[in-house]
Amino acid sequence: MTAVLTVDGVSRLFQSGGERIAVLDGASLTVEAGEMVALKGPSGSGKSTLLLIAGALDRPDDGTVTVAGTRIFPDRHAEPALRALRRRSIGFVFQKANLVPFLTAAENVELARFIDGAPRPEAKVRARELLTTLGLGDRLGSLPSRLSGGEQQRVAVARALANRPALILADEPTAALDGARGRQVLELLKVAAAGGVGVLVVTHDDRALDLFDRVVSIADGKVVSESEGSPAAGRSNAVTLSDTEHP
Ligand SMILES: Nc1ncnc2c1ncn2[C@@H]1O[C@H](COP(=O)(O)OP(=O)(O)OP(=O)(O)O)[C@@H](O)[C@H]1O
Ligand SMILES: [Mg+2]
Repeated sequence: MTAVLTVDGVSRLFQSGGERIAVLDGASLTVEAGEMVALKGPSGSGKSTLLLIAGALDRPDDGTVTVAGTRIFPDRHAEPALRALRRRSIGFVFQKANLVPFLTAAENVELARFIDGAPRPEAKVRARELLTTLGLGDRLGSLPSRLSGGEQQRVAVARALANRPALILADEPTAALDGARGRQVLELLKVAAAGGVGVLVVTHDDRALDLFDRVVSIADGKVVSESEGSPAAGRSNAVTLSDTEHP
């Protein structure tokens, strides 16, 4: 197996009052290509902090992080190189879809390709393919305000997949959705994992844990293994994102 994310001995201290508190204290975690991992833990335990560090959006005080074969911490890279890595190798999905409100569903996905330097026709084809695969083929020209929360979140998943990332980092992507719509979004991430992407999802929703290969949680600043996912979490997906490349 190929690790697409390796977090090793990561610590992150925050100032609280006069004290420095270690939110992460030697946290270690690996996500393999093709694997979907759930990250759980109480509010304030450091889940979002860990995801931000994994995405090079925050810096650890100690430890090493490697994404898609590139060591990102300790720093060997200038910010432009980290930006390129984020753009190419990592797809982010947050609690809110955060789509650009004056761009259509298709244009929101195309934008991710443009920013990575893709020519316009290629970006359009990619956006159409992805949105069609994600069940939004009839919503390409819709503005976000005309889409339901679940549809907006599917566009956000398409945007995250646009540049064929090795790793998807999702922070409570289903929190704003009802059970069925939330599950649908996780199923899409599962299909991406079946196509070779490593997927790390912060989730509070225990109803969908069967979709994960592995469940880990944060306790006392460390990542502890909770379980292997259910056998039903295997890779027998009928649907595949055929053009999602293996990293
Ligand atoms: N930039 C920051 N400056 C100071 N403290 C911070 C900062 N970011 C996070 N914290 C603190 O670190 C702790 C962990 O925060 P984090 O957002 O990672 O938790 P979480 O597990 O994602 O919680 P939740 O489930 O509520 O989203 C919290 O106590 C938070 O207040
Ligand atoms: Mg959080």
